[in-house]
Parts: sequence; C-alpha cells; structure tokens
Amino acid sequence: MRIDLMAGASLSAAALRGAAEPTILVFDSGLGGLTVLDAVRHARPDARYVYVGDDAAFPYGRLGEAALVARVLAVMERLVAVHRPDLVVIACNTASTLVLPALRQRFATPFVGVVPPIKPAAAATRSRLVSLLATPGTVARSYTHDLIATYAGACAVTLVGSPNLAGYAEAELAGAPVDDAALAAEIAPCFVTEPDGRRTDVVCLACTHYPLLLPRLEAVAPWPVTWIDPAPAIARRVMQLIGAVPRQADGHGTALGAFTAGSCLTAPLRAALADRGISDVAVEAIPLLLQ
Ligand code: DGL
Repeated sequence: MRIDLMAGASLSAAALRGAAEPTILVFDSGLGGLTVLDAVRHARPDARYVYVGDDAAFPYGRLGEAALVARVLAVMERLVAVHRPDLVVIACNTASTLVLPALRQRFATPFVGVVPPIKPAAAATRSRLVSLLATPGTVARSYTHDLIATYAGACAVTLVGSPNLAGYAEAELAGAPVDDAALAAEIAPCFVTEPDGRRTDVVCLACTHYPLLLPRLEAVAPWPVTWIDPAPAIARRVMQLIGAVPRQADGHGTALGAFTAGSCLTAPLRAALADRGISDVAVEAIPLLLQ
C-alpha cells in the first residue's frame, strides 16, 4: 500500500497559490485542532480562518468507523456550503486516518489531514523504542498499522490507545484541569524499558488534543523523551498548497470559531479562545443522530 502523508489534495495547488486572503477551515472533534490552527496561522497570518469543533459528537475516538465517516461527511456538507473554504484541514488523527478518501471523493475542496507522525519518530529515535499515543480509534486503524510497517520497520512501536486524554485536554482548556496522577496513569504505558537497558525515547502525539497538555505531560513523564507534534509539518503542507503570504498582504486575517453543540463553551474556554485570537464564537448546531 502506498502511503502518501497528508497529500491527495484534489485541486491543483496552482489554483490556490497566491489567492488573496484564502479562507482556511480547520476542523476537529473539539479543541485539539487549535494546536494545528496555531501552527497554520503562524505561517499564514493574513488568511481568514474558521475553526470548527464538532463537540456534539466528541469524542470521535469512541465512534465506530461507519458512524464516524457518516458524521464527518454530514458535518462537512454543511460547513463547506456555509463557509466556502478554499482549503480544509482535518486537524484530527481519528478522522483523517479513516475519512479522507471519502471527503476527497465527495468535495472538490482540497483537504489536508493529520496522521500519526511515525516517519519523523522513526528518524528521531536512537533506542528504536517508539510509542504512539492516540485515541483508541486511531490505534485500531489499518492506516496506522500500514504507516508503522512502511516507516518504522526497524523500531518496536508501542501503541497506546488512551480513553481519557483528549477529554483531559478539553477540561484543561475549559478551566477544570485534572490532577497529575490522572495524567501520569494515562501516559504510563508509553514508557517501556528493555532488559538490555534500552528505553522509549520518542513519543508520537497522534491526537491533536495532546499538545495542549504538553508542558504537563513533560512534567509527569517518568523520564525525558522527544514528543513529536505533527502541527508544524501540517502547516508546511498547507503552505505548499496555498503559497506563502503574498507581498501585498497587510495585517492579520480574522478567525471565527464555531461549535456544533456549544456545551463546552465555559467562560474560561471563551477566554482561552480569545487568547488564541478567536473572540468571535458561534454555535452552529448539528446534533449527533446515532442509529
Ligand atoms: N483530536 C482528535 C485526534 O486528533 C481526537 C479526539 C477525539 O477522540 O475526539 O485524534
């Protein structure tokens, strides 16, 4: 199987390059995609951004594959019609590892996905013990297993499907952080020691929520490791498609936030969003109807 990381944008890059103030829609199940939004915005501050959190269906990690494909297609149908983005970033590993082919088939808009950063992890490790920390959905995907076989054949990769960490990241931003012991328990299986003394030296943050907790994860980790956040690579991929800031551009683009339920929108969360430059937040209600 050929694995084309984050590629497959269906529209020619030339059509987007140089577009004045392109509209970029960044999508996740909740708040994790903010880590990707920050990186993309840093590279292209003049663009218009729409950040959408599908909080009505959070967490995606608990949805079955057919339900997740149907949900993302249904939500995207509405978002593409309303916001008419020039490019969409699926800032969610759980969705990207499954839904990108269906999205690219359905829409002419180019999609950039986020998938587990196995390739840079394999390049960075010295002990050849790498851990992949993700949602249970991402850990189960054949896409993830194919990535490992293609890029990390020389490494022992420990897959850790965390049931709670994405929720803990949401709580952190909403002003209700969990304690260190809860975080430590969630990441403990990532830290492996072999009888020959080798130990895990690289952990892939294969869920966009996790970098929101990075300083706390570093503080509770049993030993220092390299944590790999794919956000800068995603920003580079977006720049390849839309080009750098045009010379004539001045100032900063706008950033609108939209949530499909809005129940996560506490006052501390609104403040955290405003700190990240999203002060205009709307509820775009799209309830989750599970069969
Ligand atoms: N942020 C999402 C990801 O990158 C997942 C969180 C969820 O389970 O909804 O996988």
